[in-house]
Amino acid sequence: MVNATGMLGFGFWSEAMAADPVTVLVTGANRGIGLEFARQYAARGYKVIATARDPAKADALKAAAGVIVERLDVNDHASVDALAAKLKGTAIDILVNNAGIGGGGDNQVFGRIKYPVFDDVMHTNVVGPLKIAEAFVEHVAASAKKMLMMVSSSQGSIASARGASLYFYRSSKTALNMITINLAKTLKERGIIVGLVAPGATDTDFMAEVRGRMPLGDPKERTADMIAEIDKFTMEKSGAFVEWNGQTIPW
Ligand SMILES: NC(=O)c1ccc[n+]([C@@H]2O[C@H](COP(=O)([O-])OP(=O)(O)OC[C@H]3O[C@@H](n4cnc5c(N)ncnc54)[C@H](OP(=O)(O)O)[C@@H]3O)[C@@H](O)[C@H]2O)c1
Repeated sequence: MVNATGMLGFGFWSEAMAADPVTVLVTGANRGIGLEFARQYAARGYKVIATARDPAKADALKAAAGVIVERLDVNDHASVDALAAKLKGTAIDILVNNAGIGGGGDNQVFGRIKYPVFDDVMHTNVVGPLKIAEAFVEHVAASAKKMLMMVSSSQGSIASARGASLYFYRSSKTALNMITINLAKTLKERGIIVGLVAPGATDTDFMAEVRGRMPLGDPKERTADMIAEIDKFTMEKSGAFVEWNGQTIPW
């Protein structure tokens, strides 16, 4: 490479090589959308710290090039604190709170609600992402991009609710949305951009109960779309709730 002065541009290259890699942490990355986040960010050349409840069984994740696999259960707060301590001093540019559960359609029908399952769904989908945000806020604050992203769902949109269904899951994502709004306000002064992205109905294990009964998006494509939406987040947009196709989802 020759610069305007006719000199070889080694300065540029040494600067680029010295720069810290963009680092991403993804929860629930052993399968489904989380696995795609890990693969696709790694394919960009980003450093990916991908977490799984049981790394020993995370074969697909471990096979992904350029991915560091760590153990983390969002409901085991000691495991969250342990990973945050292990990664102390590591700047995390994009933290993707992806791990989530649906609770099973039959467990959340009015008249036969399974309350212990409701607790599990709220702990995983709401308490978990908040705990992750608290545990890793310094890692994100120390990064260049400073992005804290939540994988939500249009099912959490009160304004869009059609018919009664999924009492736990819908309310968990609504609560996650409010947690995220709070985080956007709390973390603004630290320059941290917070956002909600939603994949739409996507063909993962999560949708096994309805597979074949409704159109489902391809996980690779939907994750690529969400990554493109995450790229567009700025501080001005912090707190927004965005569908995979770029549409703003009404609260
Ligand atoms: N698929 C859809 O249609 C759809 C639509 C809207 C929103 N979403 C959201 O997208 C996210 C990913 O869903 P998905 O479709 O990829 O689901 P999935 O295929 O069922 O994968 C869920 C992931 O979350 C992990 N997980 C569950 N509980 C966890 C915990 N306590 N700690 C850490 N990880 C945990 C699972 O790990 P294990 O393998 O250990 O269980 C798995 O890696 C979820 O937040 C979901 O609500 C999905």
